[in-house]
Amino acid sequence: MSAAVDYSDVQGLVRFGFAHMNEAAYLLLRVRNPAAARAWLDQAPVTTAADRSPVPSTALQIAFTHQGLEALRIPQHVIAGFSAEFLSGMAGDANRSRRLGDTGANSPSAWRWGGEGKIPHVVVMLFAEDGQLDTWQQSVATPLFQGAFEEIGRLDTSDLGGREHFGFIDGVSQPQLDWSRARTVSVNGNQLAYGNVVCLGEFLLGYPNEYSRYTERPLLDAGEAGSDELPQAEDQPAKKDLGKNGTYVVIRQLEQDVRAFWQYVDEATKSLHETGYGLAESMVGRRLEDGAPLVPLSQSPVPGVGDAGSAARRRKDVQLNQFTYESDPDGASCPIGAHIRRGNPRTVDLPGHPKGLLAQAFHLLGFGEANLHDDLVASVRFHRILRRGREYGPALSPGEAVQPAPSNDPGRGLHFIALNANIERQFEFVQNAWMARTKFDGLTEESDPLLGNREPVKGCPFTNAFSIPQDGKARKRLVEMPQFVTVRGGAYFFMPGIRALRYLSKTGGA
Ligand code: HEM
Repeated sequence: MSAAVDYSDVQGLVRFGFAHMNEAAYLLLRVRNPAAARAWLDQAPVTTAADRSPVPSTALQIAFTHQGLEALRIPQHVIAGFSAEFLSGMAGDANRSRRLGDTGANSPSAWRWGGEGKIPHVVVMLFAEDGQLDTWQQSVATPLFQGAFEEIGRLDTSDLGGREHFGFIDGVSQPQLDWSRARTVSVNGNQLAYGNVVCLGEFLLGYPNEYSRYTERPLLDAGEAGSDELPQAEDQPAKKDLGKNGTYVVIRQLEQDVRAFWQYVDEATKSLHETGYGLAESMVGRRLEDGAPLVPLSQSPVPGVGDAGSAARRRKDVQLNQFTYESDPDGASCPIGAHIRRGNPRTVDLPGHPKGLLAQAFHLLGFGEANLHDDLVASVRFHRILRRGREYGPALSPGEAVQPAPSNDPGRGLHFIALNANIERQFEFVQNAWMARTKFDGLTEESDPLLGNREPVKGCPFTNAFSIPQDGKARKRLVEMPQFVTVRGGAYFFMPGIRALRYLSKTGGA
C-alpha cells in the first residue's frame, strides 16, 4: 500500500483554491540580502494543505524562479536537478516563446515583468477574507522581510463573483487529484474511458504520475549538507527528495480586451442574422448564464466527477462536467475549436474503444473506422493542469463593453496560474499544441478563439478564423477575429513542500 500523503508538507494551493478568501495579491520580489531572505523564509507563516479546521481566513504561499534559487545561493548541482524548462524560464529562449505564442504583441520584450532584467526571484502569494488583505500583508512584511527583498511588482486581483472578464463562469472544470493514492495505471495498459481522476504525480513531485513513473526532480545524497531536513525519495530510498510535495507554478498575466471581444461578437452576431450570446458561447464551449456545456450530459457517470465536496457541489459538478465529446464528433454542438474543447478534449488512449487485443493493435497501426478527428488529439490524462488563476481590474458587462472606451480605460484580465509537475508535458503542451497551434484536430487557419495571437505562421498566413460546424449544413465561419488576450508578463516558479522550503532557507552560502 502507498504511504499516505503528509498534507502538512504540501502548500495549501495544491489542495484548495482558497475561494472563500476573495482578496489576493501576488508580490513579485527580488532577493536583496540572501541571509535575511533565508531567515525570513525559515519562519514564514506558510499555509499548508492540512490547515482546514478551523478554515483559515488568510493564507500565504511561496514559490521561486530558478534565478531565485540562485540568489539564495543554493548549490548549482542541486539547482541542475530541476526540469529544463524551469531552468530556461518562460521567456528564456526564442523557440519556447514561439511555441507558447509569445510573439508579436505577446513578446517578452514588451512584458511588464518576467522578460529580460525583470524576472522576479520569489513570488509571495497572499490571500485573505474580505477586508483583511492589507492587515495580512502588513503582518507578513516585517522589517526582516523589508531588508530581505525588493518588491519589483505587485499583482493585484479583483473578485468578479466567480466569473472571468468576458463574463463566463470560471473554475468549472478541474482535474480531481488522487489524494488517497488509490489510482493504479498499468505501464503498458490503455485507459479506454475518460475519467477526471488523475495520479497525484501529475501535480506533486515525488509520487508516481500517469506513466507510473516519478517525474524528474532534484534528489540529494543522504550525507549532503542540510539534506536531513528532506523526506526520503520513494523510488530511490538512498536519496533525499527536494521535489517531494512540491510543484511547478506557471503564472501568466493575460490582459483581456473585453471591449474588442464583445464588439467583435456583436458585429458578427448581426452579420449572421443571429441574436443572443450564441457566438460567444460557441467560442468558449459553455453557456454564459450558468456555465453548462454545449454538449448533452453523458448518461453514464464520468469517474471523478461529482465525487467530492458538499452534496450541492457534487450535484453541480455532475451538471457541469459529466460529459465528453463522443456524442459530438464533428463539433455540431460544441465547436472542435471552442476554448474548453481545446483545453481538455476529453480524449482517451484509444479513441473509439476498440475491443480486444487484436482490434486495439489494428487501431494502433492506423486501420479501422475510428473517427478521423480522434487520432489527431493526444490522450488528455497526460496533459491536465490545475488552474488557480484570479482576475484583475474592474468588471465590464457585455452591454458596457460595446460602448466606446473612455480615454482612461483601466487594464483588466486574468492572472492565469497553473500547477503541474511537468511544465513541458502539461502547461506547455496545452498552450502550444492545443491553444496556439493553427492545426488542431482537423482545423486550420485558426487558433484558440480567446487566446490566439492571430500572428501569421509559416505555411498559414491566416490564423484569425473560427469554425462553427452545423448539423448537416455548411459550417459557419468567423473571420478576421482580432486578438482579444495579450500576454503582459509571466514566469515559471517552483513551489516547494514545507520541508523543502526549510532546506532552501538553511542551505546556501553567504
Ligand atoms: C484570459 C485568458 C483565459 C480566459 C478568459 C479563459 C476562460 C475560460 C473559461 C470561461 C473556461 C470554462 C470554465 C472552466 O472550466 O473554468 C475555461 C476553461 C479552461 N481553460 Fe481557460 N481561459 C483563459 C486562459 C487559459 C489558458 C492560458 C489555458 C491553458 C494554457 C486555459 C486552459 C483551460 C482549461 C484546461 C479549461 C478547462 C477545460 C475543461 O476541462 O473542460 N485557459 N477557460
